[in-house]
Amino acid sequence: MPRPVVLIGESASKRADYFGKAASLLGVPLDIVSWEEIAKGLNLGRLKGAAVKVDPPVFQTARLSQMKGRLEAYQAALQYLAQASCAFLNPPWAICQMLDKRATNQRLTAHGIPVTEMFPEEIRSVGQLLDVMQEKRCYSVFVKPRYFSGAAGVAAFRLHPGNGKMRLYTSCRLSGGQLINTKKLACQDRRTEIIMLLGQLLSLGCVVERWHPKAELNGKSYDLRVVFQFGHIAHIVARQSSGPVTNLHLNNQAVAFSRLGLKQGMLDVATLICKKACAAYDADPCSRGREPRKEASHIVPGGVNMVGFDLLVEKHTGNLRIIEMNGQGDLIYQDIYGENQIYQEQVRAMKEF
Ligand SMILES: Nc1ncnc2c1ncn2[C@@H]1O[C@H](COP(=O)(O)OP(=O)(O)O)[C@@H](O)[C@H]1O
Ligand SMILES: [Mg+2]
Repeated sequence: MPRPVVLIGESASKRADYFGKAASLLGVPLDIVSWEEIAKGLNLGRLKGAAVKVDPPVFQTARLSQMKGRLEAYQAALQYLAQASCAFLNPPWAICQMLDKRATNQRLTAHGIPVTEMFPEEIRSVGQLLDVMQEKRCYSVFVKPRYFSGAAGVAAFRLHPGNGKMRLYTSCRLSGGQLINTKKLACQDRRTEIIMLLGQLLSLGCVVERWHPKAELNGKSYDLRVVFQFGHIAHIVARQSSGPVTNLHLNNQAVAFSRLGLKQGMLDVATLICKKACAAYDADPCSRGREPRKEASHIVPGGVNMVGFDLLVEKHTGNLRIIEMNGQGDLIYQDIYGENQIYQEQVRAMKEF
């Protein structure tokens, strides 16, 4: 008997709409459980024995301080869901871990997987940031809230080592002492404003990384979003930008991989890196009890089956580094409005869990 398929998410969302379309095309009944029901203490018995996909809730706030509170509630909800006895497409504990940029970077580093270079220091103030940058002689960095996504609060910061001039690129701004997320990347070079903004940002709890120069196409830099599921690349798209932050909702352009003129071998390297990164979650004590990853099928009920990777292609060498792993990073407009292959493959796999 195939398991019932359940989607946890927001019923009026593109994700639920298109996952639902995939399920009905394949003749698979789908039960949608909303985040509101979970917040009201859903009886986990409803998930018993099911194959379950967990989509993210929608946060309706632009204030970064409020986002932090919502995120904490979300993390708690994921911990609650983790107790359900069902087979998850991606287990809630792993989704939760991938929300933590430091934990992800450390896990991948420990497994010898190439990542962006993250400073080990917990940097809490602008003074400390400047000291660390001087010490490391690293004058271009990314400052990123440790747990946020969608470029919220992501800032690229440059300090001129000679004259001390500063430049900051970010899509958040200060308004009435509050950090507000916008959908437009702006560049600032006024020292006092930069210090105020960075100070607020760092107080939220951030990671700091070396700013790695990205490969370019027609004078604009890009990185790659790879949807990797069941052991293969299901979708790959370049995100091209005239600024240093490439997330697509910031008015950046999606470009077909074939237009980048990269060597074919690059896809094999990307596949290997993504595969190893998914497997880095197998050894976690939280994975105990689930079935082992089978080389032949690539489907692991209860393991990490799908990840949206942000991959950086280094400017001069073409080497790949993982920027981040998104445990729910599978919403690709070109795919849902096209053949809807990503969700169909998930439904097909989940009914076999
Ligand atoms: N260390 C880095 N070097 C160069 N670019 C980076 C670096 N870290 C992030 N970026 C850029 O910023 C974007 C957003 O960063 P990311 O870590 O993916 O945060 P988010 O979770 O908000 O998407 C990346 O897609 C990339 O374009
Ligand atoms: Mg990202």
